[in-house]
Amino acid sequence: MLNFGRARSQPRPNRSLSLGGMDYPDLKRKNGYVGKIILAASLTVLCIIMLKQSPSFNTSSVFSLHEAGVTHVLVTGGAGYIGSHATMRLLRDQYRVTIVDNLSRGNIGAVKVLQEMFPEPGRLQFIYADLGNAKAVNKIFSENAFDAVMHFAAVAYVGESTLEPLRYYHNITSNTLVVLEAMAAHGVKTLIYSSTCATYGEPDKMPITEETPQVPINPYGKAKKMAEDIILDFSKNSDMAVMILRYFNVIGSDPDGRLGEAPRPELREHGRISGACFDAARGIITGLKVKGTDYKTADGTCVRDYIDVTDLVDAHVKALEKAQPKKVGIYNVGTGRGRSVKEFVEACKKATGVDIKVDYLPRRPGDYAEVYSDPTKIGLELNWTAKYTDLQESLRMAWRWQKAHRNGYGTVAASA
Ligand SMILES: NC(=O)c1ccc[n+]([C@@H]2O[C@H](COP(=O)([O-])OP(=O)(O)OC[C@H]3O[C@@H](n4cnc5c(N)ncnc54)[C@H](O)[C@@H]3O)[C@@H](O)[C@H]2O)c1
Repeated sequence: MLNFGRARSQPRPNRSLSLGGMDYPDLKRKNGYVGKIILAASLTVLCIIMLKQSPSFNTSSVFSLHEAGVTHVLVTGGAGYIGSHATMRLLRDQYRVTIVDNLSRGNIGAVKVLQEMFPEPGRLQFIYADLGNAKAVNKIFSENAFDAVMHFAAVAYVGESTLEPLRYYHNITSNTLVVLEAMAAHGVKTLIYSSTCATYGEPDKMPITEETPQVPINPYGKAKKMAEDIILDFSKNSDMAVMILRYFNVIGSDPDGRLGEAPRPELREHGRISGACFDAARGIITGLKVKGTDYKTADGTCVRDYIDVTDLVDAHVKALEKAQPKKVGIYNVGTGRGRSVKEFVEACKKATGVDIKVDYLPRRPGDYAEVYSDPTKIGLELNWTAKYTDLQESLRMAWRWQKAHRNGYGTVAASA
């Protein structure tokens, strides 16, 4: 640079002779440069105008900027059962939502329903990505201005976790670490974490409070407990606001009938009791297999605390609203009432109107006899109580969606 400038500023000895031979091509080159610059500038302006007119440009720019008065929530696993219901509630409450999901277990159909309900630019975007891919996750955080994260994404079947433990530690524990690292690196300060009553194992004393020792007895519960520990250790030296919600057994679906629970058919054998009841009522399976009749419970079948998904997502919104920097809130989310599997099956028969055949089989590995919550703490601190506590009614709402969506989100049944 220096040499070039000095050379040009010095007088040229043969200026008059050389002018004709040198300056003419210089002038041509200069004109060429000017032309190229004008062309490049015009093309750039044209591209910007075209991009600005495209909806995707407007949408992505909105998602990448913090906006006063708008809370942008990253919902991991938002194509899944609980994540999709949470997204619907957040959008109804005027939050901005980005769903990140690898669709390994969730349904793009649920995302489409939400996009149809909230088509306005800047409300909802879907990003297909695997949380195990730290590079991809980091890119998502660098391109989007999140204010909070609701981390739902996980594999979540107790029975499957006993068969494929490594998958569970990777998907739950390791991926939570990836999410947390990305949050720390990009200054996202609020985390609502989906944990589970499976982290308590099989305590001697019921109901389970948040002080009940966590002694998980299957890889699913252990992986969630490890993820909790990572979050808690990190939060000790951070100003992050953390809420850990330990859900009990989630049932039901959106009362307006837009969303439902639609696990992959191949997961049926690991599936949850409500899915199995509905499959039996629809004749997809011949009947119900109740595993374990010799537990130390009133009727010998397992006792669980069933929480309606609408109540559960309400707890998430309340947790988000009350999350405080440098503070950790840990809450059980349950009704406080245990129901036996036999009771559940009877409620399911009534809700579906089908006399479901029931087979009683030996215990399933990894199951525990009796689990129900003490929800006092969440009531006092977050002003939350379960409202949808009529088991039959929750199942009736879920059954309505199931009947109308015989192939899950694939197609809508004509008779709906
Ligand atoms: N359903 C229950 O009864 C229950 C009870 C306690 C806790 N939970 C927790 O709630 C959360 C949601 O459960 P759900 O019942 O909605 O499950 P779900 O399988 O319906 O949804 C999980 C979603 O996460 C996605 N996902 C999984 N791994 C991913 C990955 N690596 N990258 C990106 N996306 C990924 C799946 O595709 C799916 O859409 C889980 O963390 C689960 O452990 C559920």
